[in-house]
Amino acid sequence: MKKIVWFIVLMSMVIFASTTTAKVIKEYYENGNIKKSTSYRFNQKNGVEKEYYLNGNIMSETEYKNGKIDGFGRIYLINGRIERERSYMNDKLNGVNKIYFKNGNLSFQAYYSDGKITKEVRAFFENGKLKYKAPVSNDEEIFEMYNNNGTLVVKMPFGKYLDEKAKNLNKISKNIESTGEEYFAPCSACHGADGGFPALGKSKIIAGQPADVIYKKFIKYQLGAKDETGNGSLMTGQVAMLTDDQLKQLALYISQL
Ligand code: HEC
Repeated sequence: MKKIVWFIVLMSMVIFASTTTAKVIKEYYENGNIKKSTSYRFNQKNGVEKEYYLNGNIMSETEYKNGKIDGFGRIYLINGRIERERSYMNDKLNGVNKIYFKNGNLSFQAYYSDGKITKEVRAFFENGKLKYKAPVSNDEEIFEMYNNNGTLVVKMPFGKYLDEKAKNLNKISKNIESTGEEYFAPCSACHGADGGFPALGKSKIIAGQPADVIYKKFIKYQLGAKDETGNGSLMTGQVAMLTDDQLKQLALYISQL
């Protein structure tokens, strides 16, 4: 009987030790180079997870605390230059979010607090000069845009700028053949075939929103000045693939869904 009790005590200690011990799991490419290294503690990611390119250069670094992204998240180009840098707390964006040009200069900067985009966003030209700054939560605040020699091009309340852009929504130059349906095809993967699904389970329903409202949201995504769910950069990528006329046509199409 005593022996059995001792055995159980010993086994519990072994199991306890194996779950509390920190461990590092490494994956390798076929050529033997390291692909990924992840640190665990209490079987949760803890510490910096690193991914590498086949040539051995670092691809990404993501800091974890108790299984959640907490700290920095950095993505590097294959030549070793940093491309994107984000700060997180408790799995949510928190702090500065920066995107860089290939020459290492800052291209875009936004701030987050507890997953929400705050303050204003700023974008720069490759030569380092300010391209625009846009408010993120109040359309009454001033939007400013410059050209690459520093001359002011636009300075007005953001809402007014968006209104002016959306003014001619119905007067799309007639080089557009599509009804907008074909531009919507890639969107339906996330927003549903009829635009009636919350994308990634999170976005608002887009079907039936007024065309000018949708188009103004496109412009905000284009500028990086909208992020409702922490996935705004994903939509920035989506709208970057379409011309202004195509975006207008698409907005008209979605409003009819
Ligand atoms: C990979 C999934 C995905 C794809 C593809 C996608 N979206 Fe989205 N979309 C989202 C998510 C997620 C959001 C919420 C983004 C945020 O946090 O602001 C969103 C937000 C939107 C919004 C703003 C909704 C609101 O009222 O706040 C519009 C409009 C929109 N998408 C239109 C489109 C269009 C048009 C396309 C195709 C060109 C498209 N989306 C492609 C995931 C996607």
